[in-house]
Amino acid sequence: MPAVGRRGMRGVYPLCKKEKKMNDTKTIESGLFDVYPRFKITPEKAEGVYVWDSNEQQYLDLYGGHGVISIGHTHPKYKEAITTQLAKIGFYSNSVDMPIQEELAQKLEAASGYAGYKLFLANSGAEANENALKLASFHTGKKKVIAFKGSFHGRTAGALNVTDDAKLSAPLNKNNFPVQFIELNNEDQLKEALKDNDVCAVIVEGIQGVGGLDAPTESYLQFLATKCKKSGVVLILDEIQSGYGRSGKFFAHQYANIQADIVSMAKGMGNGFPIGGVLISPEIKASYGLLGTTFGGNHLACAAGIAVLDVLKEEKLMENATEVSNYLVEQLQAINQIKRLKGKGLMLGVEFDYPVKDIRTVLLNKYHIFTGASANPNLLRILPPLTITKEQIKAFSEALKEILA
Ligand SMILES: Cc1ncc(COP(=O)(O)O)c(C=O)c1O
Repeated sequence: MPAVGRRGMRGVYPLCKKEKKMNDTKTIESGLFDVYPRFKITPEKAEGVYVWDSNEQQYLDLYGGHGVISIGHTHPKYKEAITTQLAKIGFYSNSVDMPIQEELAQKLEAASGYAGYKLFLANSGAEANENALKLASFHTGKKKVIAFKGSFHGRTAGALNVTDDAKLSAPLNKNNFPVQFIELNNEDQLKEALKDNDVCAVIVEGIQGVGGLDAPTESYLQFLATKCKKSGVVLILDEIQSGYGRSGKFFAHQYANIQADIVSMAKGMGNGFPIGGVLISPEIKASYGLLGTTFGGNHLACAAGIAVLDVLKEEKLMENATEVSNYLVEQLQAINQIKRLKGKGLMLGVEFDYPVKDIRTVLLNKYHIFTGASANPNLLRILPPLTITKEQIKAFSEALKEILA
């Protein structure tokens, strides 16, 4: 393993042949529609914050399968809840009474502090946002949406239209309703965008994920919430990645002490079981047929969702997220090549002034640590399970120190 000099880290870090081979992301000939560049690693089992591949190599998972693993891989209570439920009934449609959905809604209301808000269950983040946008439009009778530069809200038609990445849209889902992208934290642009009284919703991420960990400031969120209320505009907080305790609060926007009209969530909600949902203000009224889904809120997904909320509470994982994050930040602040640390809790971005691709490769191949990337090529993304300990995360800061020494 060659030593890495500062100059070397500026994009020309020389990988040895073995590393190049291990990092080869070419996809083998297969029956799969080839849309993902994949590392040649085959995870076969996982537990807590670790994953093992088919060669029994252990990896520290600071990526959490894209911010999905909240209570840790294969948590015993989670496994038991899903298997017990499966042995009873795995699925029935939303045409019958589902006490398990009621239990999830009640526990979510208590955990989130969103008293009186109603829950609609879906299967993914994009679907949650799709329903949030639709509700805002039904409620206001309007169709323009304000979204933010750098945003990512998912890959279904409506969610894509409010995502600030034109490459992801096919011709048929470009401009399917009017959207204005404004800069985060720019109050003047918000005032200007709201002035024609034609807006149904503002959609904003608690902390931007894919975009690279930029976030609305607390004072901007307070301004935004007040403006939306005054203008009769529905404020949608996309907490799909930053929610479920990841930031150290249940939802990241709760640092600003504001309430949204709709909160969308997914990822950590099911710890890997596909589930998404929206919490909806009591001011937005439900009626039969307004929203619907076949699989959303099925028994298995609810069992997974309830287990997640129980473990988050019992193991005080939000507190742990803050504690471990503070420790990691302290460690990283001692590394002078790091330009900036972004994010909150266990949703952190480590920014350099050169691309991090090679650092990620060495972390993975030599130190066996998964990390994430983002639209910002200079940013490492850290999204570990919320159960991670200081001891476990120390392996990352130590590895980074060695790589950059
Ligand atoms: C903030 C945010 N919103 C929405 C989505 C879309 O979620 P899904 O991939 O479950 O549709 C993502 C996924 O990365 C996300 O990070």
